Amino acid sequence: MKVIIVQNKKEGGACAAKLILNRIKKKKNTTFGLATGKTMIPLYKKLSGLYKRGEINFSRVRCFNLDEYIGFNKNDKKSNYRFIKKYFFRKVNIREENIFFLDGKASDPILECKKYEERIKKYGGIDLQILGIGINGHIGFNEPGSSFSSRTRKVMLRNETRHANAWLFGSFKRVPRYALTTGIETILSARKIVLLAFGKDKAAAVAATFKRATKQVPASVLQRHPNVTFIIDRAASANLRQKSH
Ligand code: GLP
Repeated sequence: MKVIIVQNKKEGGACAAKLILNRIKKKKNTTFGLATGKTMIPLYKKLSGLYKRGEINFSRVRCFNLDEYIGFNKNDKKSNYRFIKKYFFRKVNIREENIFFLDGKASDPILECKKYEERIKKYGGIDLQILGIGINGHIGFNEPGSSFSSRTRKVMLRNETRHANAWLFGSFKRVPRYALTTGIETILSARKIVLLAFGKDKAAAVAATFKRATKQVPASVLQRHPNVTFIIDRAASANLRQKSH
């Protein structure tokens, strides 16, 4: 796994944006997997800036969102769809019909997840999956204990994840208990994966990711993927550095 250590999240966002720009230059209709969370904000800002300056074109790009809260969909302000829309979609020329997302209000969640997997396949799979990491090592909403062969499905969120995401909902209690998430195997099917982690809160999860691959640290499964790049800032890499000294 390749590790790029940057000074701060702004530099990290710019570094990830460059990888995305290069991808689009090589393949205009690149299919991206996108994540939510505060980690993604510097990246989305940088991409919007590049678009404003005419340096990047998203007109043929396709995006699949990683996950969604149960009970929320594109019409809800607190949905993951709206998060990415706020920071990214509405600021660039990505076509609405090229944005794919899970409907957390689907009457049949099992069917919704099955259809999502089929749609990803239909579009030739994810070329570049962008990931953040939870403080407990989760990727997407695949919490500790998730099977490495899991596919898109309904999951129960851990309380630590609900606490970490409380800022989006105003309080812990308002954070949904369930979500739909692309699975670990779905994520591993991407041709390339870029994981971003910034801040000291992520240092323990990042360090655990590089130890033995275990279901208890979902991100550690990335060791089994042939093309993963980590972009982490100094604070998030603190425990890695300690180890190598
Ligand atoms: C959420 C998302 C993840 C994200 C993680 C980190 O639970 N489902 O995709 O990577 O939390 O979020 P943040 O970037 O806000 O720390």
